[in-house]
Amino acid sequence: MSADDKTQANAMWGGRFQSGPDAIMQAINASISFDRRLYKQDIAGSRAHAAMLAAQGILTHSDAEAIREGLLTVLSEIEAGDFLFRAEQEDIHMAVESRLTEIVGEPGKRLHTARSRNDQVAVDFRLWVREQCDAAVEGITAMMRAFLAQAEAGADWVMPGFTHLQTAQPVTWGHHMMAYVEMLARDRSRFTDARARMNECPLGAAALAGTSFPIDRQMTAEALGFDRPTANSLDSVADRDFALEFLSAAGICAMHLSRFAEELVIWSSAQFRFVQLSDRWTTGSSIMPQKKNPDAAELLRAKLGRILGAAVALFTVMKGLPLTYSKDMQEDKEQVFDAADTLMLGLAAMTGMVSDMKAQVENLRTAAASGFSTATDLADWLVRELGLPFREAHHVTGTLVAMAETKGCDLTDLTLDEMRSVHGGIHNSMNEGVFQVLGVDNSVMSRQSYGGTSPDQVRSQIARWKALLG
Ligand code: ARG
Repeated sequence: MSADDKTQANAMWGGRFQSGPDAIMQAINASISFDRRLYKQDIAGSRAHAAMLAAQGILTHSDAEAIREGLLTVLSEIEAGDFLFRAEQEDIHMAVESRLTEIVGEPGKRLHTARSRNDQVAVDFRLWVREQCDAAVEGITAMMRAFLAQAEAGADWVMPGFTHLQTAQPVTWGHHMMAYVEMLARDRSRFTDARARMNECPLGAAALAGTSFPIDRQMTAEALGFDRPTANSLDSVADRDFALEFLSAAGICAMHLSRFAEELVIWSSAQFRFVQLSDRWTTGSSIMPQKKNPDAAELLRAKLGRILGAAVALFTVMKGLPLTYSKDMQEDKEQVFDAADTLMLGLAAMTGMVSDMKAQVENLRTAAASGFSTATDLADWLVRELGLPFREAHHVTGTLVAMAETKGCDLTDLTLDEMRSVHGGIHNSMNEGVFQVLGVDNSVMSRQSYGGTSPDQVRSQIARWKALLG
């Protein structure tokens, strides 16, 4: 080995090493460039650990006090931007500990008693993901409120409901908005459930087998706001389910956002004109002066890919890993960080867009009445009035639709005589009934079944959700 190659061995673990790592090894190995985001959690974990060690008589109280003070100094240095993060310190755990030791000396070297970076990173990352679950719940709740406000404003505005993006039946704007409230509520509960499941503290599992020191894991778990300590030390350091659950919940939530984003792109187009997006969430074109592009919606539609990509990446990292910790697992953080950032940005942007969007009520109504949207109402009416089996009523109505299509008119423009030519049972006294049934307002009002689109049903769902959200 030449003298140049003999870079310094790592001060934390380099006892058995003759030389330091290759520069490229350092680049692969170091996580400090991204896991520095865990500094707060790392310091909180260390504080809890040191206090417990002192309470158990493993550290002296004066050492623990020096560590506590020193960690507070490190925290304020990092927050003030005065902290020098160096790649040779590998990760946030070593960076904090080595700075602590620079500040307080000997006691700093005692902090790592009865723990390992394996349980340390597990606890730091859990704390971080737990916080993100809370942020997601908050962001989703805000979006639910935005959809609720839209629903309340337009509980009885009529719009076309689609299947296959073909006009299906008239629905109410409020009903459509409330569909998203339901989706978001499930998203919220996924984050709440995941949080409850992850709220166990791995600190004290040490490297993998637990420790010979008489630690009190209940105490550290409590200090860090966990419900209890994890029950198996191997699982504690090998588990990343909490991150996978977060990514899965985030992926489903982002999928919902991307569906509404797509609706906004369609609805704001000149062909639909169902909504107007505000200037705050759109951009212009540098060449076409008339353009108002729904960029935020388009970006949200796309950003789902990043979150799903992160989930796939972490599943791929974890699959097939033997117990317990493997360095592969260091690849967990960037994925989760990026997914969380993307989700939070998406939630905030979508909430803004939903709050600002203006439904074009007349256009919605006109569109609702076109495309033979009340054909099902006519079939239902034939069942009720003539006692036809639904299949037959469906066929009669289909024939009437074809007739109207050939004539280039709506169902309401057909005369009673024309209708009678398709089914002899239709007679003059039914005149009023049939045309009433073909109107979009009656159509939506008639759908009173629980969870249906009638304004009454929608209003009662709005009331239920408002009470639940408080
Ligand atoms: N930086 C590491 C990670 O993110 C911390 C744990 C390192 N443990 C180890 N045995 N090398 O996973």
